[in-house]
Amino acid sequence: MEVLSFNKNMLMMMMMMAMMWNIAKSELHYVGGNKFGWIPGVNLTQWSLNEQFVVGESWLYFGYDRHSFNVLEVNQTSYEKCIDTGFVKNVTGGAGRDVFQLSEAKTYYFISGGGFCWQGVKVAVNVLDHLPPAPAPAPKESDGSSISSTFQIYHSLVGVILVLMFTSFLM
Ligand SMILES: *[C@@H]1O[C@H](CO)[C@@H](O)[C@H](O)[C@H]1NC(C)=O
Ligand SMILES: *[C@@H]1O[C@H](CO)[C@@H](O)[C@H](O)[C@H]1NC(C)=O
Ligand SMILES: *[C@@H]1O[C@H](CO)[C@@H](O)[C@H](O)[C@H]1NC(C)=O
Repeated sequence: MEVLSFNKNMLMMMMMMAMMWNIAKSELHYVGGNKFGWIPGVNLTQWSLNEQFVVGESWLYFGYDRHSFNVLEVNQTSYEKCIDTGFVKNVTGGAGRDVFQLSEAKTYYFISGGGFCWQGVKVAVNVLDHLPPAPAPAPKESDGSSISSTFQIYHSLVGVILVLMFTSFLM
């Protein structure tokens, strides 16, 4: 019986660790730089240029007043001309808090309807295959760079903390 419940806890611990690993690996980018950045007056072009988006690991967060704005994925032409019909995808969930996974290495285009695209509520997001070698080396290359080892240390720390948490939980 004891062995059985121990195994169950071990399994739970491993599942928790896998979850934590994924959370640590994926990155949420707040569009506009904060939780309410999908609004006029924010230079979203500037914001996008200062971020690095990696395929599969990066998510966008659009925070806005749901009564005024929405989020539509469009093609490049519609992005440039602020055309909100015939969009690629309606990202709008209804709560004014939308997340979108960047699952392809390409440039995504998003605009708000309601005329707000003309006021600058639009963003183009360039998604990379992987992080460029400089200034941030890809974690997979074992070149002993400081950034990738920082990531590894961080992940091991998360693991150690979880093990300690569960060990004390078992006792
Ligand atoms: C926003 O930033 C971009 C890139 O730096 C710049 O080219 C553009 O003029 C800015 N737009 C506004 C409205 O300030
Ligand atoms: C982009 O979408 C608009 C609106 O649906 C459409 O009229 C246009 O043909 C599309 N352009 C391209 C290059 O797909
Ligand atoms: C997008 O989807 C939301 C939620 O389902 C809906 O309320 C809204 O009318 C849709 N917008 C467009 C332009 O289709």
